[in-house]
Amino acid sequence: MCGIVGYVGRREAVPVLLDGLRRMEYRGYDSAGVVVPRNGDLVTVKAEGKLDRLVTKLAEHQLPGSCGLGHTRWATHGPPSERNAHPMLDGRRRLALIHNGIIENFLTLKHRLMDEGWEFSSDTDTEVVANLVSSLHEGDLRAAVARALPRLEGMFAFAVVSVESPQPEIVVARHGPPLVLVLGDGEQFLASDPAALLSFTRDVVFLENGDMARLRAGGVELSDAAGAAIERPSVRLDWDPIQAEKGGFKHFMLKEIHDQPQAVQDTFAGRVDFEERLIGFDHLDLAAADFAAIERLHLLACGTSLHAGLVGKFLIEELTRIPVEVDYGSEYRYRDPIVGSEVLAVGISQSGETADTLSAMEAARAAGAKLLAICNVVGSQATRISEGVIYTHAGPEIGVASTKAFTTQLIALYLLALYLRQGRGLPLEPEHLVGLAHLPLAIAEVLRQEPAIAELTKTFYHADDFLYLGRGINYPIALEGALKLKEISYSHAEGYPAGEMKHGPIALIDEELPVVAIATGERVFDKVLSNLQEVKARGGVSIVVSDRPREALGDVADHLLTVPRVDELLQPVINTVPLQLFAYHVAVRRGADVDQPRNLAKSVTVE
Ligand code: AGP
Repeated sequence: MCGIVGYVGRREAVPVLLDGLRRMEYRGYDSAGVVVPRNGDLVTVKAEGKLDRLVTKLAEHQLPGSCGLGHTRWATHGPPSERNAHPMLDGRRRLALIHNGIIENFLTLKHRLMDEGWEFSSDTDTEVVANLVSSLHEGDLRAAVARALPRLEGMFAFAVVSVESPQPEIVVARHGPPLVLVLGDGEQFLASDPAALLSFTRDVVFLENGDMARLRAGGVELSDAAGAAIERPSVRLDWDPIQAEKGGFKHFMLKEIHDQPQAVQDTFAGRVDFEERLIGFDHLDLAAADFAAIERLHLLACGTSLHAGLVGKFLIEELTRIPVEVDYGSEYRYRDPIVGSEVLAVGISQSGETADTLSAMEAARAAGAKLLAICNVVGSQATRISEGVIYTHAGPEIGVASTKAFTTQLIALYLLALYLRQGRGLPLEPEHLVGLAHLPLAIAEVLRQEPAIAELTKTFYHADDFLYLGRGINYPIALEGALKLKEISYSHAEGYPAGEMKHGPIALIDEELPVVAIATGERVFDKVLSNLQEVKARGGVSIVVSDRPREALGDVADHLLTVPRVDELLQPVINTVPLQLFAYHVAVRRGADVDQPRNLAKSVTVE
């Protein structure tokens, strides 16, 4: 996933581009570059690695001009290098192009263009698009792009400038990855992510798949692939620039962990009538016939969002008795799933742009399922292909490791379960709702333990292997805790059903392998205690997340992280938080790049 940004108007372009790239660095940071068309030339500065390197180069190479493009790259074709950094120029240096996505037929196109005499200087699929557009350019840049689009296969969003345009202009096209515009007075902006434009506005226009646009200082012309003029509404984001900044925390991830009381509150606020015991949503309104038709649910997601789906299975099955399947986006569509109109499919995605999840959602819808999205980004692709959306109101999540998006996904799934229960005529009891109201305070109570958790990581941050154990509704939290640790600290960690430990992983137990276990609630507490006895009997060292006092755990908890007890169905929201803090502080002690872990990107918009 890459970040693209563009500007045309009356300001100096480069400062606008750098501000946007800074806010999108989490989308990829293998290389970065900018281009400004000037006096018949395409002045380009690129740098491998993080954005700071580009900023350093720009201090030496002034780039005056009021039109330009900027790009931060997450490598898909061609290793991270300056040679493969965008913007890409065509072989005749007439145009420069930046791109997010994958051109699946780029090799075929490249060979055809090479046969026509076009030369290439990079390994990228993007350069193929630049040469293709240039080969079709007969004076009108938008027309050249329109002619190129039908020849491209894959998912892409790109922006292009040309030295041959009669006035400064940018032409963009979207087919997959997101592209937003800001239509200003005498100036126009574009970016992959609305967060990049927060310095300038909160009113953005989301392009749809197949849309093109020509941006000139005086205005924007929107058109479909056939060139017919179209209209797209402007959406006001409820984010503000401060919210998207770090708020005084050392890392975005830590800020976002601490955002969780508010994020959880914001996600159920306005959707629960505690007096009447009713659930309602602003972007989801199922009819009685819809509720009656639902015989099964399919929850589709990747990574952390998949873990939320695994918790969602427990919530929905317990509260509605409707069977739920949970599957990885990357697996679902290739296993020929059994889907029909009796299935309610729900795509769970923070970004709403994860290609694997989108593909699964499309497959479910094509097979007749009713399709919903649980998503954190207004107007993202997952929300556009769905018939209804439950937005998580976590605010922008910048850290690559998902935290507040996860806990708010759990809230959204809990509300969905109650909504389905209500729709099937089953009563909502007071105990279904009272737990929600207390969650923000309970999360805040856990956050107050951060110093103790940070201190605990002094003992464990050197460990290279961890085992995370959970049972029942907390088994997915063991998976999530393990994922958090491994993706930001690069320590290996494995989440496992606690009951399964004796069927293999117990062979690993010794004093070198810290075991993190979740022992909360009533249903399986004693069973987890037995598993911890097995760990202790083999000399293992345990870190236990529990809602019980130390004396209730006997001698099985070498280190205890106490959490408040809430409704058993909501306890996963609480149990996640100490594991997020543990992973964060281990990573900090290991000197890892917490917000931008190696090899990762915030949203994987390629399959
Ligand atoms: C979670 O910390 C990871 N960043 C990753 O697993 C992520 O959850 C996954 O890529 C899905 O992203 P999405 O929620 O934006 O679809």
